[in-house]
Amino acid sequence: MNYLGLKPSELESTVKELNRLLANYQVYYQNLRNYHWNITGRHFFDLHAIFENLYNEAKVNIDEIAERVLTLRMKPMSTLADYLEHANVKELSTDDTVEMVQSILSDHKKLISNMRDVLEIAGKAGDEGTVDLVGSFLASVEKNSWMLDAWLAK
Ligand SMILES: [Fe+2]
Repeated sequence: MNYLGLKPSELESTVKELNRLLANYQVYYQNLRNYHWNITGRHFFDLHAIFENLYNEAKVNIDEIAERVLTLRMKPMSTLADYLEHANVKELSTDDTVEMVQSILSDHKKLISNMRDVLEIAGKAGDEGTVDLVGSFLASVEKNSWMLDAWLAK
């Protein structure tokens, strides 16, 4: 048992998923920055602001995930090269507004799936702290997905 009363051997798979979530979040964050900067057209004002809200939320979550890994006494993935190698969220550049929103919604799907994996593995390890943290992210990403999906509806 470690200083939190958790078995280090059981934490390894949780940390692996948390690091994958960190990598996914970092690429997602940069996609949002890209769209925040490069959006043009009639939806400039609303989406420029929405992308900023989303990347600010992502920035906070990224730090919380890395610090959770440290709290579990393991190392957070920390280089851009590692993020790009391990993330299944991919970089995308587009000038098309609808494609921007669709791509962010698709990134959300990958984040949600990754979060559910974290919840399952951390739950089995009795790591309620991680479950609580990632569970709060999950509900928020789901709510943000609803709004993007509503924006895309005809
Ligand atoms: Fe800005």
